[in-house]
Amino acid sequence: MTDRTRHLIGLLLGAEEDWPQAFESLLQRVGPVTIDGHEHEFGSRRLTIEPFDLNDPVRVGLVIDRLAYWYYHPREWLKKAALMNGTYLLNSPFTFQAMEKHSAYCAMLRLGLKIPRTVLVPYKNPLDNVRWAYTSATYNRPFDLDAIADDLGYPLYMKPFDGGGWRGVSRINNQDDLHRAYDESGEMLMHLQATVEYDKFARALSIGAETMVMDFRPDEPMHNRYAVSHDFLSPAAGHEAVAISRIVNAFFGWEFNSCEMLVKGNSVHPIDYANACPDVAVTSLHYYFPWALSALVKWSVFCLATGRRSSVDLHTERYFEIADDSSLDYDAKLNAYLALADEHFETTKYHEWCAAHLGDFDLRVRDWVAGPDFARILQETVAATYPPHEQDKFMAHFKGLTDHWVADQAG
Ligand SMILES: Nc1ncnc2c1ncn2[C@@H]1O[C@H](COP(=O)(O)OP(=O)(O)OP(=O)(O)O)[C@@H](O)[C@H]1O
Ligand SMILES: [Mg+2]
Repeated sequence: MTDRTRHLIGLLLGAEEDWPQAFESLLQRVGPVTIDGHEHEFGSRRLTIEPFDLNDPVRVGLVIDRLAYWYYHPREWLKKAALMNGTYLLNSPFTFQAMEKHSAYCAMLRLGLKIPRTVLVPYKNPLDNVRWAYTSATYNRPFDLDAIADDLGYPLYMKPFDGGGWRGVSRINNQDDLHRAYDESGEMLMHLQATVEYDKFARALSIGAETMVMDFRPDEPMHNRYAVSHDFLSPAAGHEAVAISRIVNAFFGWEFNSCEMLVKGNSVHPIDYANACPDVAVTSLHYYFPWALSALVKWSVFCLATGRRSSVDLHTERYFEIADDSSLDYDAKLNAYLALADEHFETTKYHEWCAAHLGDFDLRVRDWVAGPDFARILQETVAATYPPHEQDKFMAHFKGLTDHWVADQAG
């Protein structure tokens, strides 16, 4: 009789139905994997939210989470599962909570990445705290907002230090814009940031050891933001974009994250890269959706079958030693950080493991995307997302793009 382990993956979900159904269908297409005579099987379940005792057992070995960033009960359950039960989490809720966009800027600046110049200004409005009046009168130095803006140069961006989802972001073209935006910022803590005049907006989605750098057009409507274009960056900028995404993730302990970079010539400027648990809806990713879901399944299965552990510790000093080595130039540092990141993600082992144990999975994914189950999920998603008179148009749009992906797999 062979030994057998049945691994359970927990899905902590919000309002979405498309990618969870795709994930569940694709996971069923992973056959049992045998390693050294030991058989591994995989299943998933959707987690529900209920009171929990801090000593309760946890049955799932790994959790993919889309809730923790806004719903704190499941976030605290995730922390309990990680600390008490050794449950593997794709994103560290510990660093994700502690490291806002601001800390991520600081950490990557420390590594020498090309973050646009950024200044944090004090709150516009008084804080609701009895100590505010005295503290502010005693210690808040008057400052010249115009001088800061002149120094950064117009146009510039004003955005919250912990931003996300375009909340409170404005492009500032002149002094009037500046004062209006600062007055409106109220109780939000704001950055002023120099503008990067870019040629290309690269948005990279990383899942474990895999990264897809996509040509992003932020001004387009959601269904059209990702262009299907494979060589939109020079090889050097493409390498740098992959490296930066992976370095950010390894540094913070994130394995399911997106990184936004503004690319000017061969210069890559990261501006937003603390987006753990990013949107992977078929209605935004379209052509890239099968890649994303396949990577999510493969990475989850790899972590469980090989007994990979997640850690609450960060080993920032290993990165800072490289940052402080004056014998290395920018490219050499980037490659040294990337080597640490690839060691963290076991990149080589992951690809070899997938080739050895999931050899025909890519074909199964292709057949599934070409088949009726995927067409049904797409139809239901389009019906839930768009008004009736637009559904045929959008169904044709997304089916065309995912068929295009299927056709590309033959090559
Ligand atoms: N320094 C900059 N130079 C040029 N454009 C910028 C800069 N900072 C922000 N932008 C523009 O503003 C948009 C929003 O900024 P940012 O991504 O930092 O905010 P966000 O709240 O995280 O938004 P989202 O959730 O849409 O990514 C960017 O997608 C980009 O188009
Ligand atoms: Mg952004």
